[in-house]
Amino acid sequence: MEGESVMNGGEGANSYAQNSSLQGGIVEAARPVIEEEISTKIDVKQISSTFKIADYGCSTGHNSFAAMHVITQAISRKFDTEELSSLTPDFHVFFNDQVFNDFNTLFKSLPPKRLYYAAGVPGSFRVRLLPKRSIDFAYSSFALNWLSGAPKAVAEKTSPAWNNGKIHHFGARKEVLEAYTNQFAEETKAFLDCRAEELMPGGLLTILLPVVPASCNPDTAYTVDTELGVFGSCLVDLAKQGRFSADKVDSFNLPLYFTNPEEFKGIIESSNNYTIERMETLYNPGKRVLSSGPKVRATIFRAAFEFMLINHFGGEIIDELFDLYANKLAASSVLSDTANDKTFEIIVVLKRKPS
Ligand SMILES: C[S@@+](CC[C@H](N)C(=O)[O-])C[C@H]1O[C@@H](n2cnc3c(N)ncnc32)[C@H](O)[C@@H]1O
Repeated sequence: MEGESVMNGGEGANSYAQNSSLQGGIVEAARPVIEEEISTKIDVKQISSTFKIADYGCSTGHNSFAAMHVITQAISRKFDTEELSSLTPDFHVFFNDQVFNDFNTLFKSLPPKRLYYAAGVPGSFRVRLLPKRSIDFAYSSFALNWLSGAPKAVAEKTSPAWNNGKIHHFGARKEVLEAYTNQFAEETKAFLDCRAEELMPGGLLTILLPVVPASCNPDTAYTVDTELGVFGSCLVDLAKQGRFSADKVDSFNLPLYFTNPEEFKGIIESSNNYTIERMETLYNPGKRVLSSGPKVRATIFRAAFEFMLINHFGGEIIDELFDLYANKLAASSVLSDTANDKTFEIIVVLKRKPS
């Protein structure tokens, strides 16, 4: 179902707000790149009295606020440096996420000392959400890797892409990977084309994304793959205990795709609306520390996937499923060698071409 991949709301122990420091660390890692791009690529003389920023896939906002702070500060600083402080614009930030997102928590948590006016924009970022040429700076972090749903073919028993016994494209057959790859390309292109209409000519679009190296054979067992394998085995165990049918497990696949930088670059080029200003790896020193330990990993996973798991399997099994998952992770060697985790994060800064 489109829109089911929202993160856990609120600020409790299993909320995304409490379990997304990894994504938060990325904002800090991206800060120097964003500041430099703003200072060198934005012409303050072209800015009107309101500078409009949109964050696509903001969740409950905690990491988004940090990013909006970096962007608005950098623009203000640029006006100061050019001795145009009196012309510093008002900032208007549009926080976008899917309609089931917990926007209440976002609005309740807005930093009191922010430099901007805030508005919520509900809906999928794969369609147009904002008026033509209305946005000066677009931003999206850890969101494009979420598909609208797993590819239909991977859940169909009669399809060559049926992903029998697995819940993800890692380590799956060629046809499964192709189904994910094609859907990611199509949906990312839709995102880029919509943003191209919403952005002002010369406007910047900054994307932060987890990826895997192109050189990795898709059959290679990444830590994330192995963890997903452990998670899939918990679902199989619960089905064997009669908690739900085996068919339920067979028809469940995660709507998550890890692209690689080369593939992502190809999709951007196919959109033909942007110049690539920057594309580089981010160094997030906290990544391994923040995400270590079976209980922590299980809760991070829960904060991201609980909503869709409840939709598919029902709410009664959730506590049991995540207890089992934490126990199985603790008993396995999956997390013991962090060097196995081949995922890393990139920042891509695009400039809207003049149309
Ligand atoms: C992992 S969270 C990232 C949140 C935040 N950007 C951060 O860096 O912490 C991914 C977010 O993308 C949102 N998302 C996924 N698909 C979306 C879509 N089609 N339209 C809008 N938001 C979407 C999810 O609801 C979720 O809040």
